[in-house]
Amino acid sequence: MAKFSLQHVYESQQFDLELLNIVFKTADDMKSDLLAKPRQYADILKDKIMASLFYEPSTRTRFSFESAMARLGGSILTTENAKEFSSASKGETLYDSTSVMCGYADLIVMRHNEPGSAKLAAEVSSVPVINAGDGSGQHPTQALLDLYTIKDHFSTIDNLTFAMVGDLKYGRTVRSLSYLLTKYNNIKIYYVSPTVCKMDEDIKAYLTTNSVEWEEVSSLEKVLPLVDCVYMTRIQKERFHDLEDYENAAGKYILDMEKVNLMQEKSIIMHPLPRVDEISKEVDKDHRAQYFNQANNGLYVRMALLYLLLGNHDT
Ligand code: CP
Repeated sequence: MAKFSLQHVYESQQFDLELLNIVFKTADDMKSDLLAKPRQYADILKDKIMASLFYEPSTRTRFSFESAMARLGGSILTTENAKEFSSASKGETLYDSTSVMCGYADLIVMRHNEPGSAKLAAEVSSVPVINAGDGSGQHPTQALLDLYTIKDHFSTIDNLTFAMVGDLKYGRTVRSLSYLLTKYNNIKIYYVSPTVCKMDEDIKAYLTTNSVEWEEVSSLEKVLPLVDCVYMTRIQKERFHDLEDYENAAGKYILDMEKVNLMQEKSIIMHPLPRVDEISKEVDKDHRAQYFNQANNGLYVRMALLYLLLGNHDT
């Protein structure tokens, strides 16, 4: 297998098809290993320390990274809320915090409110930095686990049609996923959003440059029968500057069973989670609902990334 050549993971554009396949193959190995007796990878990172530095709240990303490190035998430095309980609350810059933290840990997983913060941290860090979400910028490890879930379900990513729905303006997951989809053939993306939450021009230009077909539509009902994957997202109240804009956007697109029944039987429903009300609870029981499986896949993909960035391996 080819070499995993990345030192940091801060944006989706760092990945080519070869690197994606290494991550997916390693994630498959990790998934199998968790069921094996004895396990091959249980102590593989036993001398390594991961610092999780989260300046914004998280359930899945933080705990799946911490679980992944524990399941590989490594140790974890963490804080409940880096914004409040680290020296950021005293005015310390991210540059200074990262310069210090890289002396205490072998890898830093960072979530921050500023787009570009993880790349900035990577520039000053002597140890790998993983972007766990940088404001409305990117969430590359979410996109990796999204693709892993799609590949696991359909056995391929080529020739698939997507609807990305909801907060496309501030949604970092849909930005990162859009970038990664350009690596595959014959992809079509429908962007379905309230007017105030449209996908930014930079992503649409990137798709066009990379020959990915995209279209903005306002009717979710119209696209549901056409797509293989419906990727719902939450309208992120915390990122709106204007409460009136938020109120105009919230509740506009809700996937309930009446709408799910418009989808093809073989299609899937994804969501990075957390959800508020954009997917009705009744949908959870439908065979097309993949979002809890998707969250679970985050563990395998993050185990793979930690191993690839920190472990001794030939890949
Ligand atoms: N999907 C995701 O990033 O979830 P958390 O905010 O809970 O980490």
